[in-house]
Amino acid sequence: MKTSKISGFYKLSKKERLGFVKNFADLTHEEIKTLNESTVDFGIVDRMIENAISVMPVPLGIAVNFLINGKDYLIPMAVEETSVIAAASNAAKIARVKGGFKTSSTTPVMIGQIQLIHKNPEEAKKQILGNKEKILKMADGCDPMLVKFGGGAKDINVCILDNRMVITHLLVDVRDAMGANAVNTMCETVAPFIEKITGGKVYLRIISNLAVHRLSRATAVFSKDIIGEDVVDGIIQAYLFAKSDPYRCATHNKGIMNGVDAVIIASGNDFRAVESGAHAYASLNGYSPLTKYEKNKNGDLVGSIELPTPVGLIGGATKVHPTAKICVKILGVKTGRELGEIIAAVGLAQNFAALKALASEGIQKGHMGLHARNIAIMASAKGERIDKIAEQMVKEKKIRIDRAKEIMKELE
Ligand code: MEV
Repeated sequence: MKTSKISGFYKLSKKERLGFVKNFADLTHEEIKTLNESTVDFGIVDRMIENAISVMPVPLGIAVNFLINGKDYLIPMAVEETSVIAAASNAAKIARVKGGFKTSSTTPVMIGQIQLIHKNPEEAKKQILGNKEKILKMADGCDPMLVKFGGGAKDINVCILDNRMVITHLLVDVRDAMGANAVNTMCETVAPFIEKITGGKVYLRIISNLAVHRLSRATAVFSKDIIGEDVVDGIIQAYLFAKSDPYRCATHNKGIMNGVDAVIIASGNDFRAVESGAHAYASLNGYSPLTKYEKNKNGDLVGSIELPTPVGLIGGATKVHPTAKICVKILGVKTGRELGEIIAAVGLAQNFAALKALASEGIQKGHMGLHARNIAIMASAKGERIDKIAEQMVKEKKIRIDRAKEIMKELE
């Protein structure tokens, strides 16, 4: 039985870490070589975007200890910020004591919007709804493979805005795709028909990133015996603060997206799509936290999260970018829904870890070591000196470039 539970992963050498991941995910020698070299064939990059000149490598790490629906996961996370991966791994370690994360999700339905301008919007709405079956059939004709796998255009909603805009929502089950290509093609295909039956003029035909029908949820119990009753209360207070104040809520949700985006980037998905959807979803009833916290009867902390997860496993960079392909293999996910649920669990873990730190020693303590190392490097320290100078500055609580230079001289 494979486990993602490991202490001191950070103490292992790169080779040892890769060895652990290799065993967990049955990676091949070639795949380990790709990770080891950590460069991407320029031919691939050049086909992915225009005007490519190189790659911008973002550190890729592994969050450990995740137990989700009784299954162990190693979670690849691509992120430039210090402490994010350690915090997620630590939260997962605490969560697994009470059974880990439990997740669920809705069917992966995305919305395509078709904007029609019409002098008589009520009449146009009637025409569109009266031709619903024809429109759905026409949309399905764009993607027989999607239909074959149980997806396709499922329904239509129509609303009127400003008493002149008739907005058709095409609801499409996109299965394991992110869905933008399928949905946009469908919208563009049915638009001329909508113009024809209504006599109006179509302008926009595009997917909506507010993916309210494609939600992932996760919940976990964090034992009061491990984190302490004060921290349980502190986290609940932090949640209530975010609930009442958009200034705090933006930062609360930013902490969630630290984890969410890192998994999305590692898996080659579109993090802007998920970011915009998450914040729009959080704003539906006044800007609110994406997570919730309460105490259970036992006094333990119960955390939960719900957010739209328009992510896929087919199409886009997921199937093209060699590192993303390996990350998906490490995750071991078989469906877009499973990936969305993992993302929700990581978002909850990340938020819990941030609130736990904020409710106890504060966030800076964990950051200081690496910050001090960066300052030492900026002061031109090399090799072992970097750690020595950083340690000294942390001890003195004087993490400044002038002090780093002074210590460097003292050491000489
Ligand atoms: C920093 O990247 C994220 C936090 O600010 C999140 C939070 O305040 O909840 C620590």
